[in-house]
Amino acid sequence: MPPSGSRSVLKVDRRAYAGPVNPDEFSQLLSSRHAVRDFKPEPIPQTTIDAILEDARACASWSNTRPYAVAVAQGEQLRRISASYLTAFEKAAPIVHKDVPGIVRTVLTGGLPDGDFRTWKKYPPKLLERSQQLGKAMYTHIGIARRDSEARDESKRDNLRFFGAPAAMFFFVHKDLLPFSAMDAGIVLQTIMLSATAHGVGTCPLGVMATWRHPLDAEFSVPKDYKLITGLALGYANDSAINSFRAPHPPVEQIPAKSARS
Ligand SMILES: Cc1cc2nc3c(=O)[nH]c(=O)nc-3n(C[C@H](O)[C@H](O)[C@H](O)COP(=O)(O)O)c2cc1C
Repeated sequence: MPPSGSRSVLKVDRRAYAGPVNPDEFSQLLSSRHAVRDFKPEPIPQTTIDAILEDARACASWSNTRPYAVAVAQGEQLRRISASYLTAFEKAAPIVHKDVPGIVRTVLTGGLPDGDFRTWKKYPPKLLERSQQLGKAMYTHIGIARRDSEARDESKRDNLRFFGAPAAMFFFVHKDLLPFSAMDAGIVLQTIMLSATAHGVGTCPLGVMATWRHPLDAEFSVPKDYKLITGLALGYANDSAINSFRAPHPPVEQIPAKSARS
């Protein structure tokens, strides 16, 4: 039996194999994608970014509406965006620390997050448990103690530095086609991550970027009615401890039938 949470190795029936690619290679591509949280500064060639976005054209979409738009930032522009996010984080830090007098100050000075969606929300208990297990496993892996709030804050700031990535993408969805636009954006996000993996480019989705909107409005003319749903860091992975962390991938939850029917 494989250890709990790891992917089981299913036997592929070669006689039935009629697809365009070898299923083992496809599984290999899927399982070699993982969140990269420490990047080399080396830029990604524009031709590679273009090829990744070209692959994303192949995505299925709700009634083919393609109700999303992507902003790409690199170099100096990405540094400005990161600086703006870091300033916003310092203003909102009392919320993270549950520091009530600090929260009052944040409210009075207009430092509340201005994202289109609330990212710092209460999770349902079972899902909260999974998220907490991830945090615990990841911090243990890199040696950050539970009570070391300074180190944890620094790790949150690393998110807002795009983990040093030379490029980032920001995904916007049409507000009038939610939740389908969000679903479509997820399809595009995964396709971009897989294409990037095939090009040797590491990725990390950054939902935390959706906590604030103003850093992007300062840099892009975002079409009216489009809402920021997530960021994505892209670049070449450093050979560091955090990048050897692997999150558990439990099986897809299956809904049992009410009764067996023959
Ligand atoms: C929409 C989305 C947003 C995410 N946001 C963050 C984030 O803000 N910071 C982070 O470190 N990881 C983020 N992740 C990465 C997840 O933590 C990661 O995908 C999960 O733990 C599974 O690990 P794996 O991607 O290495 O397989 C995000 C993933 C998704 C799909």
